[in-house]
Amino acid sequence: METKVKLGSLELATPIVCASGTFGYGYELQEFINFKAVGAIIAKTITPDPRAGNPPPRIYETDLGVINSVGLENPGLKGFIKEKLPLMRKLPTKRIVSIGGFCTDDYKKCLKTLSDKKGIDAFEINLSCPNLKLKKIVSQSPSLTYKLTRVLRKITTKPLFIKITPEVSDITKIAKAVEEGGADSISMVNTFFSMAINIKTKKPFIGNIYGGYSGKAIKPMSLYRVWKVAKEVKISIVGGGGIETASDAIEFILAGATAVSLGTVNITDPNSSEKVLKGIKEYMVSKKIKSLKQLRGGLIA
Ligand SMILES: Cc1cc2nc3c(=O)[nH]c(=O)nc-3n(C[C@H](O)[C@H](O)[C@H](O)COP(=O)(O)O)c2cc1C
Repeated sequence: METKVKLGSLELATPIVCASGTFGYGYELQEFINFKAVGAIIAKTITPDPRAGNPPPRIYETDLGVINSVGLENPGLKGFIKEKLPLMRKLPTKRIVSIGGFCTDDYKKCLKTLSDKKGIDAFEINLSCPNLKLKKIVSQSPSLTYKLTRVLRKITTKPLFIKITPEVSDITKIAKAVEEGGADSISMVNTFFSMAINIKTKKPFIGNIYGGYSGKAIKPMSLYRVWKVAKEVKISIVGGGGIETASDAIEFILAGATAVSLGTVNITDPNSSEKVLKGIKEYMVSKKIKSLKQLRGGLIA
């Protein structure tokens, strides 16, 4: 049975990717994780300078998911290279570094500095953080998405993934801009804008007032967007948003995703990849499918 998948030139042993921000830098939890099940980890987004993140509380749990407003807390480029990368490098899986920023130069600086560093297999460019009080999220504009992707494409020969927001009226326009800009893969989706109010105090539960919603509740919305995009682009898609089980993951593959991302589920079960991969393999056996290619985009509609 073949569980390998390819995202651009990056080959993963399994289709399962641990989503940025929900898995640290991969090494913190390594004693609990069967890395044989993990195709790649995507590290927490880094920015050129260290960031303390947003005011607490930063996480609020709802019945069916999580609102987070971490605000890209990270050690900055220098701190990442010194403290995190040497430990990430030792992980027995593919390592994808997520890059964030507030202007084109931020992204360029991070990518230029990291491009030829050992131990990094690919880059995911986060054009979709919902809780930074930005005037505009880059991936809400097809032209900004295209321009930035094109600029970054020229900086690195390593596989380049662009992570986009679901918060747009037509996500296919953004996905096409990513493809035309020369990226290898689209990561989707990041979180949905959300908030919750404590009616006793009349205050928001989140220090930043609002945050990004993830977890079980967003799965049908994420799945719909992946299906829409998959029909319009030829490059690969890392699809996710609300995946908890093998069945969820298979739905994303049937909708057209090449790989699937596990995010919020890692917070309660860091080894969720193992369970999801096992279920995918069982499904493949039951359907007499030898390769994931036979499953991808297999929705009958
Ligand atoms: C606590 C938390 C922190 C996150 N931090 C990041 C981040 O730094 N960069 C990023 O691109 N996405 C970040 N995300 C979004 C996830 O990577 C993922 O795209 C999103 O949560 C949807 O998937 P899920 O429902 O499986 O969690 C974060 C999500 C959570 C819950």
